Amino acid sequence: MGEEQAGFASQWQKAPDRVWLGAEYWANPLQDWRVAGGRIECVKAAPNRNVQLLTRRLGDKPASLQMSVRLGRIDGKHLANGRGSAGFRIGIRGPLDDYRNALIYGQGLDAGVTSDGRLFIGKPGDGTPLDLVRESIELQLAVDAGDDKSKLTLSAHDADGNELARTTRDAIASDSLAGNLALVANFFYGNPNAKNNAAQQNAANQNRANNLGAGQFWFADWTVAGDRVETHDADAFGPILFSQYSLSRGVLKLAVQMPPLGEQDEQAVRLEVERGGEWIEITRETIHPEARTATFRIEVWDATRDTPYRVAYTLRSSDGTSQEHYWPGVVRRDPVDCDVLTVGDVSCNTHKAFPNAAYTANMAKLDPDLIAFVGDQFYESSGGYGVQRAPLAPAMLDYLRKWYLHGWTWRELMRDRPTISIPDDHDVYQGNIWGESGAPETTTQEAGGYNMPAPWVNVVVRTQTSHLPDAWDPTPCKQGIGVYSCPLTYGRVSFAVLADRQFKSGPEGKVPPTGGRGDHVTDPHFDPKTADLPGLQLLGPRQLEHLRDWACDWRGADMKAVISQTIFTAMATTHGEPNGRLVADYDTNAWPQSERNAALREIRKAFAFHIAGDQHLPAIVHYGIDEHADAGLAFAGPAVNTGYPRWFEPLAPGKNRAPGAPANTGEFFDSFGHPLSVLAVADGKKQPRTSLLEKLHDKVSGLGLVRFDKRRRTVTVECWPFLADVSEPGTQFAGWPRSFDVLANYGRKAVARLPRLEVRGVDNPVVEVIDDATGELVYALRIAGQTWQPHVFAAGKYTLQISDPDSGKSKQLSGVMATPGNETSLEVSV
Ligand SMILES: [Fe+2]
Repeated sequence: MGEEQAGFASQWQKAPDRVWLGAEYWANPLQDWRVAGGRIECVKAAPNRNVQLLTRRLGDKPASLQMSVRLGRIDGKHLANGRGSAGFRIGIRGPLDDYRNALIYGQGLDAGVTSDGRLFIGKPGDGTPLDLVRESIELQLAVDAGDDKSKLTLSAHDADGNELARTTRDAIASDSLAGNLALVANFFYGNPNAKNNAAQQNAANQNRANNLGAGQFWFADWTVAGDRVETHDADAFGPILFSQYSLSRGVLKLAVQMPPLGEQDEQAVRLEVERGGEWIEITRETIHPEARTATFRIEVWDATRDTPYRVAYTLRSSDGTSQEHYWPGVVRRDPVDCDVLTVGDVSCNTHKAFPNAAYTANMAKLDPDLIAFVGDQFYESSGGYGVQRAPLAPAMLDYLRKWYLHGWTWRELMRDRPTISIPDDHDVYQGNIWGESGAPETTTQEAGGYNMPAPWVNVVVRTQTSHLPDAWDPTPCKQGIGVYSCPLTYGRVSFAVLADRQFKSGPEGKVPPTGGRGDHVTDPHFDPKTADLPGLQLLGPRQLEHLRDWACDWRGADMKAVISQTIFTAMATTHGEPNGRLVADYDTNAWPQSERNAALREIRKAFAFHIAGDQHLPAIVHYGIDEHADAGLAFAGPAVNTGYPRWFEPLAPGKNRAPGAPANTGEFFDSFGHPLSVLAVADGKKQPRTSLLEKLHDKVSGLGLVRFDKRRRTVTVECWPFLADVSEPGTQFAGWPRSFDVLANYGRKAVARLPRLEVRGVDNPVVEVIDDATGELVYALRIAGQTWQPHVFAAGKYTLQISDPDSGKSKQLSGVMATPGNETSLEVSV
């Protein structure tokens, strides 16, 4: 970062043909631009296509500027022979003081040429005539800076350098020129992100811009110079965009996200580690042609120490030269000996406050050991320009553009700690998803299936999840769509990462007709039992089977947790708008009820806590299956940037509340009839304030963190409002933090007790309790110490399996009696 004079000149004449324009640029939108024949082309004739420069901009102090660029039409016709406009935009700033915010939300001052032959600064209606019957022109823009006011001069020149026309604007406020610099194809008089831009803009200019239409233009030889043009070379983005990794029981998986490169580009990415002061290449991988990821899998990784690594990539130029690029980070040691493992619970980012620098700084202060991105890493609206669903190739680039916003937001935290990422509905361009085991959508979204084609969905799956530990069962689901549900053990916490919507049945056509939107029940006489039909799926048989195995696999783990997209109850009562009360919502994982109960029965057997997002309604809930709180606890973390708000507005106060607890906590029944205990909830304001950050704050955007204290066997949930400073005490939402004993995750009331166990031979053994009558696991947990009295939910005979799965030591006792008020004890030598 600096203010020194440093000129800039584009190097496209040396770049091989590719979609990505280079690390110095952000293209709006990515898929509409490419490098071809040593220059860049905007291949889509549409408004407000632009390329912003990341490494140079004007600062707050008045600064002179000289920019030039050559441009023409990509069909080679005369500039006058077609439609559209082209040129520069300067002083681009967004609502937040961040050059990245300006890339997406910025507006600035335009200066260019229109196809009907005018050279203009500001609005094309004010232009100076010029003769455009020529294949190309060079535009030169000069800013002569005064203290308060600056003078702008735009001139057009022919191929021999002869000036064709010139226009000037005096008395432009100097401070209005601070911001990003861009090339623009087809000026547009409105912010494409604003819904009512036409009303906000001068109607005459709008009409004129519309009349000009849009053309396809090329640009070349962009130069930027001038005193106090700020140099920000560190703000370049790429060619290595970001990385994500997981470390689980000594296996490292690291995914590198690359931009869309070309056929002439190097196709391999290397992973290097430092040994004895030298960087050693340990492996290399080919970039996936569609996902643009390279994923390393290191089977035997030394997880006992922090290991600096760097990803390396050779960027080639078409003149035969090349440049090495590195993306360094640290694979932290597995914190097996730390008392507490912290997990950031992150979801639902509209990127309205992109790049959310204050938010990520807050998360950096919390310094979680692991961050779980549990879905909606972006929304369809993120980045502007809507969504492009077809053709397939640009639709994949459209996805990558939005995904890159996520990576750019989080990369500084992802490079040096493990992260989990699982896609939810908006990640696959759907408002809701009932994945139907990967089937294609055939009728409506609510009938289930994926709207986007399978190869596109697989780009989502690969970019977001390829760094996760190996899937339990890698067999793809329908249409060959990849799966990612997996176990992950880190810091002596064993996680089950689930896909809670990939296999889920769609409601429409199966449940009683709603009379309207297939997922929204509005009939006050709705009987939820009529919707709990045989054959419906939630997690599906494969994930249930894997949960069953996982519940008794305690290798390297003291505690357990499930991570999935959403909670397994219907909590929100009010959706989208203050009066948007629903009777029930099939998007929630309260439905299908029997399958939801089956999942929770497996999860509670491992005393597992549940981390999720999706709701935009931060809450801690205690699940009930047959009775209140007889299953596990869950945290629905807040959205990073809330778009669609939800509220919990029970019709009657909760029962059995703690003294002084608010009326919207306590015991309820959810809209599908499940017992629901709400321990903490933060409802947003019905009328949020209107300024950007305050609005996000009032819509209960925020930060969530879960602490697993393995020594004390407790789970603590923390949650901060969006504008809180997490380093200030007392700034969490009302109701947070809350701590729970791990045993609360199987909160069912005990009926009988087995003898008190006095274990000899191993510390902290795993205790599995198996019902002799059925042969089924009652539960399994890792006890702290050597003494514990197991409880059960029916008197009778049980088998006790006491083990240390890491050393292989094990002792099994069958026919042990459980009785009410059992006062006996049992010494077990393992
Ligand atoms: Fe969401």
